[in-house]
Parts: sequence; structure tokens; C-alpha cells
Amino acid sequence: MQRRQLAARALAGAAIAAALPIAARAMPEQNENVVFSAADPGHWTGVEALHVPDVTVDGSTLTVKTPHPMSQPHYIVSHTVVLEGGKFLDRKTFAYTDQPVSTHTLPAGYKGLVTVTSTCNLHDFWVKRITV
Ligand SMILES: [Fe+2]
Repeated sequence: MQRRQLAARALAGAAIAAALPIAARAMPEQNENVVFSAADPGHWTGVEALHVPDVTVDGSTLTVKTPHPMSQPHYIVSHTVVLEGGKFLDRKTFAYTDQPVSTHTLPAGYKGLVTVTSTCNLHDFWVKRITV
């Protein structure tokens, strides 16, 4: 390989490496069959009623319930709550012997978007967004 070709390939490699963080940031927009919701159950169509978290707010208390049976081979693993702007609020993990219910305290006077996730050990990652 000629020196000029080698230099060109090295520059091309550097350009690709520089572009990777941009591509990685774009990935959250491509959630088909990665993140599931009532409106987009993807390949899990038919089981969304058991996996989409039910979210209620009473004052500053946010309650998350997933209407999913709990058994050793098949259960809800966790709930996560994220506020507007991607600010992580809280996470609760479950054993198969638990009920998939969690409570979280919103910051005083919080108004805005709340993203809640529920993860099933067999049926992946489900999301629900509400505005409080
Ligand atoms: Fe499940």
C-alpha cells in the first residue's frame, strides 16, 4: 500500500471515529422493538396490557403498578422514574415474590413530564409517559 493511500485510510478512520458519538446520540430515536409502549408494542403485541405500567399521582407521591403476575420464571424486574430533561428520580427492583408496585416522591411542586419504565424478565422494557 502506498503511503498516500495509508494516510487517506487513517484519515477516513479518524472521521468515522469522530462521527460515532453523534450516531450513538441518535440511537434513542430508533426504539422499534427495543422500547415498548401501549401505542407501540412491537413484536410483543398482545401482551401490552400486562406490561405497560399504570401510573397515578397523589400530591407528591407517584405510584407505579404493573398488572403482571409474579412467578419465579416470569416476573417484573424493576420500575424506573425519570423526570423531564432526563433527570433520574428513582428505581425500584423486585424479586418474583414481590408485587410489582412502587411509590416514588416527586420533587416539591414538580410540574412536567414523567417517564416511567417497567421491565419484564421475558418481555423486555416498557415505557409510559405522563405529564403532572
Ligand atoms: Fe412478561
